[in-house]
Amino acid sequence: MEKKQSAICDGSLPADPMTLDHGRAASLLLEYVATPAFRSAEEHEKVVQDNPFRRPVRPEDFGEMVDFSSPLTEHTAFSLGGLLTQRVLMNMNEADLVFVPPSPEVADDVRRDGEAFYSARTRMLGTLLQPFLERHVFGFLPSLHEFDPSSISNKEGLRRYIRDVETRLTSSDSTYARVINAVSDREQVARQFVIQVIGTEATRASAFLRLLAGIYGPPQHGVARWLHRYPDNNLVCEAVTGDRRSRLAMSLDLVPHPHAHWQFYLTGAMGVTNWLHGVCRDHSKLAEAIGAMLYAGMDFQATRRQHSAMLSDVFGAENTDTTLFDDAVDRSLEEEWETLVDPLIQRLGDRSIAAIARGFETCRAIHALAACDFEAQFTWADRSDQSIRFARGFMDKIKSEHIDVDLETFIEPREMCSTTHVHDTDRLLVIESGTMEFWNSFGHSMQFDPGDVMFVPRHRLHGSTVLSESCTYHQPIVTPDVMRTIPGWEELTPPERTSSCTRTTGNVSRP
Ligand SMILES: [Fe+2]
Repeated sequence: MEKKQSAICDGSLPADPMTLDHGRAASLLLEYVATPAFRSAEEHEKVVQDNPFRRPVRPEDFGEMVDFSSPLTEHTAFSLGGLLTQRVLMNMNEADLVFVPPSPEVADDVRRDGEAFYSARTRMLGTLLQPFLERHVFGFLPSLHEFDPSSISNKEGLRRYIRDVETRLTSSDSTYARVINAVSDREQVARQFVIQVIGTEATRASAFLRLLAGIYGPPQHGVARWLHRYPDNNLVCEAVTGDRRSRLAMSLDLVPHPHAHWQFYLTGAMGVTNWLHGVCRDHSKLAEAIGAMLYAGMDFQATRRQHSAMLSDVFGAENTDTTLFDDAVDRSLEEEWETLVDPLIQRLGDRSIAAIARGFETCRAIHALAACDFEAQFTWADRSDQSIRFARGFMDKIKSEHIDVDLETFIEPREMCSTTHVHDTDRLLVIESGTMEFWNSFGHSMQFDPGDVMFVPRHRLHGSTVLSESCTYHQPIVTPDVMRTIPGWEELTPPERTSSCTRTTGNVSRP
């Protein structure tokens, strides 16, 4: 049989990865996701205890299921393509960070996964693909800007704008705390929040550490000083925040090892981390990266006490290690300005002002997008009874009125596991025969038997495992015209579709 030549070495790659077209990117991606560590999850891998390289990306969905021909928008950011691309980007971004399995007794498969994860081939494919993928999933972010950052041309304008955002941040409720305090099962949703904090956010400090190496004088000293965020160490490196993340995880019975809860990461939360890695890796964007640091620090500072208080209230202060939030050192805007902004403007000149504003504003926008994703996911996941009632109403309607609907039928064998994913259309799940375990958050699953139905809105994360010898189920698309005739549909419409939830920081005064 003729061996297929790799796209890496067939000589047809463009010299500049920035010019990679979507067709070539898609074929390179197929090679990238064929890395064994990225294979789909098996039934026992809802949590991965001992292998930081085991990061299922659903390789089988690349190809026909995901279209890379047109970039994502605000409305498709959480689509299947968005989810899978953020998973892939996280793997690419973390390929130059150090991960070590938790036990010195490393199993052969873990060792092999680590070798593949760090292999020159995997990293080279990542390097080639990253610019294309970042454009694909982040290209729309400027459309979420509340104003044009390039309109800021002087220090006073920049300072006024940053002060405005800080005022709004410190005077508003955290979306996460608000959502968790409003759901019926606060412990369940608070755990999902912590999974994002201990997992997707774990290497954000490493992204900023990318700005520390090199030689650029006073602004570099500022970055080093800025990274002193906790009193017991010189830098906000994972050695410091990692310990606190681990203690938080363990106090809530979550697995503290890196990426143990990988399947439950939300697209939006991964997006923040990936965007930060991207802007901090591209050193031609130093001013944007400094703007991003400024916003990220401000956001953490404005929400950390709310998050600590919320977790203590939900789980009991004596049961919850919140030192990740409690021990951080606050800084005034004046201190931040003197540490980060002033030295950079002096070094790069006034032309850096608009770039700092752009980095700050884009970082604000992507944080808001992630909060929107969290709200949509767990507002739905917390309302299973409503989703089931709605699905029954829909099925009764199409049966009684003989509405022609494509059922999209699947037959799966025992232990067939569907790695967490999303659909790009509203769907029902209808069990015809057999038994399925279905989950839309970690630690809570539902068992569905013949006749059971469930509503799964588009872009909402879920996974399943077949518990019987086989399971036959249908996934009909819920069309908007029929949907609107079923009582209760408004309550199930995710907030991402009903308001501009990506603009959560209110009005901004123009510089
Ligand atoms: Fe599904």
